[in-house]
Amino acid sequence: GQQTQLTEVAGILLQTSTVGNWSQIQNFEAKPDDLLICTYPKSGTTWIQEIVDMIEQNGDVEKCQRALIQHRHPFIEWARPPQPSARNAKDCMVSYYHFQRMNQKLPDPGTWDDYFETFINGKVAWGSWFDHVRGWWEMKDRYQILFLFYEDIKKDPKHEIQKVMQFMGKNLDETVLDKIVQETSFEKMKENPMTNRSTIPKSILDQSISPFMRKGTVGDWKNHFTVAQNEMFDEIYRKKMEGTSINFCMEL
Ligand code: A3P
Repeated sequence: GQQTQLTEVAGILLQTSTVGNWSQIQNFEAKPDDLLICTYPKSGTTWIQEIVDMIEQNGDVEKCQRALIQHRHPFIEWARPPQPSARNAKDCMVSYYHFQRMNQKLPDPGTWDDYFETFINGKVAWGSWFDHVRGWWEMKDRYQILFLFYEDIKKDPKHEIQKVMQFMGKNLDETVLDKIVQETSFEKMKENPMTNRSTIPKSILDQSISPFMRKGTVGDWKNHFTVAQNEMFDEIYRKKMEGTSINFCMEL
């Protein structure tokens, strides 16, 4: 049933369910100790949510298992209510493509070649990757923002988790940190019903098409991009990201 249409609000395509909450989103006021996670879709939202909750609960797995991840971290557009996390655009595009194949509440992505155009033009739900990443990157020194990279967490989870811990004003033991690293690994989170979104009905997320916890790697774009697409992408990227100092790791 992928007849779903997106609706444009303030220049950004959104799911219809989100559009109804637009005024709520605009009127949202953070409290001083609120922690907002501001990821572009498919950049490791679920991963950082679990890391933050594990830190918050001092590494207590039982407490983290108390509820589904989407209830522990309500989406701002769906409930009341910065920590941007970015993933390189190529892997993000691949992940988003497979997500749109299996998400029955998003439009059918069409072929990979079709989707390549759609993504580059920012014609995806929640807007353009380029605008999101540029916007937060330019904002990061002006506010209390911790900017994280998916690839960094993949490369050295303990180091990055430690950064999140410090940002949250926490001080956890080495052993607790190690436990958080283990519990938030791709393998663990793929098996964990509280994080793998397996309880969401098939009419919304059809995990037989593509699992929510799909691959969790850096560099899967190489299995999707043709040489020509890669060259075209690099050219467009250079133009759209001109003037920023942001630097993405594309393979580990
Ligand atoms: P892939 O589709 O490349 O596998 P989001 O939560 O923002 O929707 O992002 C989903 C992406 O993050 C998926 O990427 C998913 O596999 C990956 N992911 C989720 N948990 C992860 C973890 N613990 N380690 C690495 N990647 C993870």
